Amino acid sequence: MDEVILKLLDLSKSFEGKKVLDAISLEVKEGEAVAILGKSGVGKTVLLKSMVGLLKADSGHIFFKGVDITRLKRKDLFAIRKHFGFVFQGSALFDSMTVYENIALPLEQRGLGRDEINIRVKTVLELVGLPGIENLLPHELSGGMKKRVGIARAFVTQPQIILYDEPTAGLDPVTGIRINHLIGELNRKRNVTAIVVTHDIRSATSICDRIVLLSQGKLVVDVHVKNIEKVEHPEFVEFLKSAKIQEVRNDKK
Ligand SMILES: Nc1ncnc2c1ncn2[C@@H]1O[C@H](COP(=O)(O)OP(=O)(O)OP(=O)(O)O)[C@@H](O)[C@H]1O
Ligand SMILES: [Mg+2]
Repeated sequence: MDEVILKLLDLSKSFEGKKVLDAISLEVKEGEAVAILGKSGVGKTVLLKSMVGLLKADSGHIFFKGVDITRLKRKDLFAIRKHFGFVFQGSALFDSMTVYENIALPLEQRGLGRDEINIRVKTVLELVGLPGIENLLPHELSGGMKKRVGIARAFVTQPQIILYDEPTAGLDPVTGIRINHLIGELNRKRNVTAIVVTHDIRSATSICDRIVLLSQGKLVVDVHVKNIEKVEHPEFVEFLKSAKIQEVRNDKK
């Protein structure tokens, strides 16, 4: 897992004069799982969307396997994007479409045949632990089920890298752990590189090899999970403390 799959170099993005991303640089190796930690509103979603070109960065470069995707024409960018899966913060399922139609959509866009689509949809639903729910509509699903369908849709195209935007936010702890487990399995057993945005440091340590912290537009910490106790950045320490307080509370129950 030594090849760099994704590299950001001095990536910057402002909205109405406010700098959200300020010269961000990051390297992610093939097969790695990296968590992006940061407070609400700091720019985690903007960073994730910029990585895949859903938002256009103002300056800087994004390399996918050495190809600078900020320089590509639309058609070539779409070709590269096929290697990415994206799990949106709010699931982003189409309300009027069934689970089957939602998951099948990216396969139809790629021109796959009906039999192949049927098999793939069935397989990914089994993988996320929701077999047989093809005909349900999004409003018939719980929050955790929607998140899992979102992961199924991201994985169905067999991407090399999946970007997860807060995949466990707002879920009960048991469902959250199941989803973390699923992300870990896709990463370790299927070798899908994972970038996981979260503000839950415990999710981050359970799934990922590395944690980076985004603060005031900069990546201020980049640490292997083995070494998190050594980090001195006050915001990172705060995140660690909040996880520990939670643990103590759980012990007392
Ligand atoms: N399309 C946009 N137009 C203008 N401002 C935007 C846009 N998208 C994001 N922003 C601003 O960029 C900043 C970062 O937003 P972002 O959604 O990336 O935060 P976040 O870290 O993902 O927060 P959360 O944890 O709450 O999801 C915010 O100040 C937000 O208002
Ligand atoms: Mg966000």
